[in-house]
Amino acid sequence: MTEPAIVASVLGADYSRLAGEVLDLQAAGVDRIQWDVMDGRFVPNLTFGAAVVGACRPYVDLPFEAHLMVEDPDHGLEEFVSAGCSTVIVHVEACRHLHRTLQLIEHHGMKPAVVLNPATRVELIRDILPMLHHVLIMSVNPGFGGQEFIPFSLDKIRRLAQLRQEMGLAFKIEVDGGVAHDTVAQVVQAGAELLVAGNAVFGAGEAERDARELLAAARKAAGE
Ligand code: DX5
Repeated sequence: MTEPAIVASVLGADYSRLAGEVLDLQAAGVDRIQWDVMDGRFVPNLTFGAAVVGACRPYVDLPFEAHLMVEDPDHGLEEFVSAGCSTVIVHVEACRHLHRTLQLIEHHGMKPAVVLNPATRVELIRDILPMLHHVLIMSVNPGFGGQEFIPFSLDKIRRLAQLRQEMGLAFKIEVDGGVAHDTVAQVVQAGAELLVAGNAVFGAGEAERDARELLAAARKAAGE
């Protein structure tokens, strides 16, 4: 089993000190920063675009990944390259031509990843799995942090891990939504390696401490 890693979702961060927040997360040993880009149409929330991501780029060395919760992910993709993202994650539900969108992400020199909403079956993306750096399983309905983990997400993680083994692929499995101390062990043991956490990291205002503790819990669950 690959060592689990924490991906900090900055949706719940203190926006008045975002650069400081990502510095704290780097100190805490998170694997990367996830930028929850929301357009208020694909999801009922509006957050930030590439300009905010780019403003924080110079402060840390951590990889940045853009989770595009937007109606038209092809539009403005190149802005996330300039902003310093190495990975772009697009919703299969928002892509009319998903294969072409993934090619566009690669064309811009970024790693493509696909995210599935809770009701979307993993088998839907079987044919494009060989193109992906990782697959993100949403364990909440996208748009807001601090929601309850959806339990059937564990079955999706297991099915995706089985597909990966059957196909001899090496993409990583990322999970996002309700990942916290009460769910992290099940998520890791189901086969996920990249654990997105927002509320569990930022909720108590002690991001560095809580990210470290969540990482320790994930490693314990993996039998590190
Ligand atoms: C929700 C976002 C999540 C969220 C983190 O649409 O994609 O990344 O910020 O969720 P929690 O707070 O449950 O960890």
